[in-house]
Amino acid sequence: QVKRLADYQAPDFFIETTDLTFELAADKTLVTAVLQFRRANPNALELRLDGQQLLLLAVHYNERLLQPSEYQCDAQQLRLSVTDDDFKLTIKTEICPQANTALEGLYFANGSFCTQCEAEGFRRITYYLDRPDVLSVFSTTIIADANQYPYLLSNGNKVADRLLAGGQRLVRWQDPFPKPCYLFALVAGDFELRQDQYTTKSGRVVELAFYVEKGQGNKALFALEALKRSMRWDEERFGLEYDLDTYMVVAVDFFNMGAMENKGLNVFNSKYVLVSNNTATDTDFFNVESIIGHEYFHNWTGNRVTCRDWFQLSLKEGLTVFRDQEFSRDMGSATVNRIHAVQVIRTAQFAEDASPMAHPIQPQQVMEMNNFYTVTVYDKGAEVIRMLHTLLGEDGFQAGMRLYVQRHDGQAVTCEHFVQAMQDANHYDLSAFRRWYQQSGTPELRVQRSYDVHKQQLTLTLRQHTPATADQATKLPLVLPIRYQLVDGERSESGLFVMQLQEESLVFTDVSATALPVLLEDFSAPVRLLHDYSEQELLRIAKAASNGFARWDALQSCWMLWLQQYIQQGGAFHLPEALFELYATLLNQPLPDKSLTAELLKVPDYGTFAESFPQIPVDSILAASAAFRLQISEHLSKALLQCYQQHSQAAAEYNEEAVGQRALKNRCLDYLSMHHGDSQTLLEQQYHTASGMTDKLAVLKASLHSEHPVFESLMQHFANEWQQDVLVLDKWFSLHAANPTEQVFDTIAALCQHPKFSWQNPNRVRALFHAFAMQNPGQFHRLDGRGYQLLTQTLLLLDPINPQVAARLVTPLLSWHRYDSERQILIKQALRQLLEKDGISNDLYEKVSKALAG
Ligand code: ARG
Ligand code: ZN
Repeated sequence: QVKRLADYQAPDFFIETTDLTFELAADKTLVTAVLQFRRANPNALELRLDGQQLLLLAVHYNERLLQPSEYQCDAQQLRLSVTDDDFKLTIKTEICPQANTALEGLYFANGSFCTQCEAEGFRRITYYLDRPDVLSVFSTTIIADANQYPYLLSNGNKVADRLLAGGQRLVRWQDPFPKPCYLFALVAGDFELRQDQYTTKSGRVVELAFYVEKGQGNKALFALEALKRSMRWDEERFGLEYDLDTYMVVAVDFFNMGAMENKGLNVFNSKYVLVSNNTATDTDFFNVESIIGHEYFHNWTGNRVTCRDWFQLSLKEGLTVFRDQEFSRDMGSATVNRIHAVQVIRTAQFAEDASPMAHPIQPQQVMEMNNFYTVTVYDKGAEVIRMLHTLLGEDGFQAGMRLYVQRHDGQAVTCEHFVQAMQDANHYDLSAFRRWYQQSGTPELRVQRSYDVHKQQLTLTLRQHTPATADQATKLPLVLPIRYQLVDGERSESGLFVMQLQEESLVFTDVSATALPVLLEDFSAPVRLLHDYSEQELLRIAKAASNGFARWDALQSCWMLWLQQYIQQGGAFHLPEALFELYATLLNQPLPDKSLTAELLKVPDYGTFAESFPQIPVDSILAASAAFRLQISEHLSKALLQCYQQHSQAAAEYNEEAVGQRALKNRCLDYLSMHHGDSQTLLEQQYHTASGMTDKLAVLKASLHSEHPVFESLMQHFANEWQQDVLVLDKWFSLHAANPTEQVFDTIAALCQHPKFSWQNPNRVRALFHAFAMQNPGQFHRLDGRGYQLLTQTLLLLDPINPQVAARLVTPLLSWHRYDSERQILIKQALRQLLEKDGISNDLYEKVSKALAG
């Protein structure tokens, strides 16, 4: 069952052309695949095609119908002997799209047909060489009821469109670019259309078309503009242009992931297309722009240059996340963007490294590929690309990109090809750097300071060490680009130190005894920095550093110190006066970047605190966070109210200034809501006069957070108002699931019966259960095991419906070893219940069995 990178073999056969015909019906779709093969390995005598959940109707070899005795067909493969070097297979299969609740392959949901083929979904459409290194030129003919499905879409250019007898319609598409089958897409349904044009730098006029649910067209306009901004940005920053005459985006409500970069026909989760001020928060707008960018950028990094095998996933994903992060940085607050990206690494990614699922950005072995679309492959992968960018500089990096594209356009390659192109374009030896691809785990970087008064010299001793992970016992030193800044009175010196060995030192001369080095600025390497800075020193950085990220980061370290002190002093701990002074200054005179100000004013959330402990003290973290927030709200109530009022007049639109104002105002509101009596009117007023969803949701979150009595009545009001909009209703589901009282169990049980809830819809399921497991630590980690049992029972129900979604939701249970012994017993018991289930999916089995083995 386990597939290994080391076992890679080039394909024995290629498929030069793929001609597909779909006769669509929800309960029975006929697929005819005409495949032109060429033998690449003269010794290969047997052709093995992948296929799952297909009903095979007929196979023709060239023009001859094969007898069943001439091939073998089982639940995974179709095998036949071949003697010719060039031959044609015509394979006719039947599938049932409406029974496909896994949402992989071709499925029918909410009245339309849709596909998701990455990673290995195409084998659920027809028998094929379902691997990314088989590139083929695709033509697709779609035949369907003309009235029910007015739009019949596939990749490339439309070359035929005609009505047939019996109310059927036929549309034919041709994609001129050879592609692996994971980039194939088909969509059929009735949609509302929004169109525009974009002219590329070299003058190609591209028709842009967004297909969304009827009545939702205007909510696609922001995404459409974001697409044009992405296209322009990629031309300017990377010199990369779009290559087809049409670019289509379809938004669907049933989708396992965020979106998919199918050539010329992106399919999106509607959550990441449909936004309006009334229905979407600033975060939603941000996500739409970044994911629109991400999928667009894949056209070069993923589609034109693709992956040889799935172990190379980070080749396209790490690089494309890096590109979308750079794009987002240029569109909004650069500092806050970086802060959010770093938070993902420090919480989710470090947690993955510490879990039974630990893997390098280039995994070495995989049971179910869908389990490897991870924060490690994506986000740590992007950090690895960012380090290359730091080492080579923008010009060097772009030179490497040009060489990479020039060498490998139209090919399926490995991460090694990418690094080699970077190396060759810069004559920069990256041999040691390559370890980042093979080594898993979170490196620890320990810093020791010593000051020589006579020489006026400060020496930093840096030691790196990567603890063993579940998948890999021994680790080697890594190349760490360390950006630093030395704060010494008025003087500040910055630079880049490239650490290569296990231990190295960095010496600053002619500096004073109080000189403070700020290391790892902008998080220049994805490591855990261990230093011995005092509270006073950290606060000095937080107040004085010129770099906003460094200020935020110093405060993060302070919070960790305060949390430890809170735990040691059993709750008698008080936050230092110096923090209140700093916060008062920020509230009275916010920085020009108000989003950053709001970040600086935030007590880290549960997940951030938790990640700094090998064994997570759940209850202490929750108690400490609540105490910290209460202390801030009490000490600074006047300044909070003033700042709140000063920033309450933000424009309704999504732009950097308005987003910052709202973030700051709502940060204040969150603290103010701690005083139930004084804040009731404030909360109700903001809720009822809000100019958009950001402000409305902020009220609900604040009142949930502070267990304010207005919560229930406002939630009721919200439900009445948004009954019909599922994407908004998802927010309401999530808020209920995050309710920190035991009542949450009854609420969730009732919500599962809600007319808009559906076990088939991943967004609905995630809205309730992801929120419960991730945003409700107090109830999820209950010592009576009720929280773990709720998730377990949910997974038992969900796994047969949608294994991919189930396997994502199980994540919080995998890290049982991070909790106290009482909880460990409860979680392991839950994992065993899952493992004992008959017919458990591969997806869930891989994760649960690893967790129990560790
Ligand atoms: N390539 C898509 C993206 O990054 C994600 C597809 C994930 N598919 C999956 N089956 N896990 O935009
Ligand atoms: Zn991607």
